[in-house]
Amino acid sequence: MPMTAFSQSNINLEFRNKDQPTKTLTLIDLGIIAAPVLVKIFEVHENRNRVYKAYSAQVVFDEVFGKAWREAGEILFTCTDGYQPSIPVAKFLTHNAYFAFAQEDDSPFIVINALQNNEIVQLGPLYLVWDNINSKELLDDGASYMPYQIREIELTVFASRFPNLAPPKKASLEARRGFLHFRKHCMACHTINDEGGGKATELNYPVSVVERMPFKHLIRWIGNPSSMRYNTVMPGLAKETPNRQKVISEIISYLRAMSKVKYVPNKGL
Ligand code: HEC
Repeated sequence: MPMTAFSQSNINLEFRNKDQPTKTLTLIDLGIIAAPVLVKIFEVHENRNRVYKAYSAQVVFDEVFGKAWREAGEILFTCTDGYQPSIPVAKFLTHNAYFAFAQEDDSPFIVINALQNNEIVQLGPLYLVWDNINSKELLDDGASYMPYQIREIELTVFASRFPNLAPPKKASLEARRGFLHFRKHCMACHTINDEGGGKATELNYPVSVVERMPFKHLIRWIGNPSSMRYNTVMPGLAKETPNRQKVISEIISYLRAMSKVKYVPNKGL
């Protein structure tokens, strides 16, 4: 049975900020600090417009963290399914984001995820959506910054939260650019050196994917996984991504650079 917003109203949502104790709120608590609005968005998971009941992300952050969240580096979202994207604060200051918590008509709070082999996915308790209909930049982001099943929200400084993800100092410019793409498009699901999301496998240690997969397979996999593995749930890099082929080869340069700095359990890098 799909869960409705009602049955999720008592689930705890954790808010973390390194300088303050963690706050735990439920959907009912959020309804007290923020007023619900209706937002119409382009639902990238279903390729059509949809309307959700939601709370303004800026209002929620102001109420929970105080105005100082605006000076933080990134906001890290941790989801029930292991997805863990880190989104720059600047994105929230230049675009309107919302925490959706129900469908407009209170029908089951789910999507049929065309990007993941048409899996039916629960969106609650919170689903981050953007006022994207008139924004090419947001539409180009694909689904990267639209986590669902959000359970934890944490203000972070990326470099200190994920020290083992950064390429080595002598890495090429290409690999450094690849790192930025990897942060945006891959790390919400995959770990590198045990850092990143828990929705898919580690890609770097003990044997890196660049050591296991020939370059041309890796290119094809990142662009179109289902052309190589039937029924795979890995989504290809969003079709809308600007300079898509260049982005893919820069990501592979990053993966190559990381294969030279492997994490060793209990010892670090
Ligand atoms: C929504 C989650 C998700 C995202 C985002 C994602 N992946 Fe994956 N990835 C998966 C899953 C799940 C698998 C396992 C797929 C399978 O076995 O069919 C996988 C498998 C892989 C593999 C094969 C690993 C192996 O050991 O065979 C590679 C390489 C890979 N992903 C690279 C990437 C890169 C690079 C990106 C960013 C451009 C990325 N992935 C983005 C979920 C994701």
